[in-house]
Amino acid sequence: MNHIFSSADTIGNIVVNFPKAIDTFKEYNIDFCCGGHRPLAEALKEQNLSEATVIDKLNEEYESFKDSIHSEIDWRTASYSQLIDYIVQKHHTYLQNELPALGQLVSKILRVHGEHHIELTKVHKLFNSLRTELESHLIKEEEILFPKIKQYEKDPSPELLNKALKTITELENEHTGAGDVLKELRRITDQYMTPPDGCTTYSLTYQKLYELESDLFQHIHMENNILFPRLQALKGAHTH
Ligand SMILES: [Fe+2]
Ligand SMILES: [Fe+2]
Repeated sequence: MNHIFSSADTIGNIVVNFPKAIDTFKEYNIDFCCGGHRPLAEALKEQNLSEATVIDKLNEEYESFKDSIHSEIDWRTASYSQLIDYIVQKHHTYLQNELPALGQLVSKILRVHGEHHIELTKVHKLFNSLRTELESHLIKEEEILFPKIKQYEKDPSPELLNKALKTITELENEHTGAGDVLKELRRITDQYMTPPDGCTTYSLTYQKLYELESDLFQHIHMENNILFPRLQALKGAHTH
């Protein structure tokens, strides 16, 4: 296995390159927030942890993260179920894990740095409105649209298709709304640039917001440009 990370890397650097490392650090009680400038080896020694175990775990997780990005499936021809399961497992699960974690981080930097960075009040507000909207959006997809599409795949009918298409229009509007909030977030954070007086938590929060943006763009791309058009193209399929 190719070792990407070593114990000589600083904790902060590992997190910047691979934010999911936070989960591992949390698991082993490694301080990634205020102790981020230290080499990982130092923190491991302090906690009496085996270097090999933690490094191997980090590298393994990084490998599987990379594999999950390079999927070879052609989504234009894959089954609806396969496409939907992929979206839910990759993008919905990501949001379900990251939104609460990011909510805490966004509050934390507002509390610590809000006095000197007034834009953090706006970041907090925008993030939380995005979070609320996304949470109901995911429910709408998982409980209403996706089951209809899977049902249609097994037993196609014009009624089912029409219902699905109606929900798709609503969801597309919600995607546009989420995109607008992301644009505003990017603008007020100066492209997620941490100010010189920002701490590790500050840059971690911005890094994670930046990732949220990338993941959402990919997610919306899969729905708006692949899944939804495949159904929209069937509009005439039931007219004889
Ligand atoms: Fe979705
Ligand atoms: Fe969506």
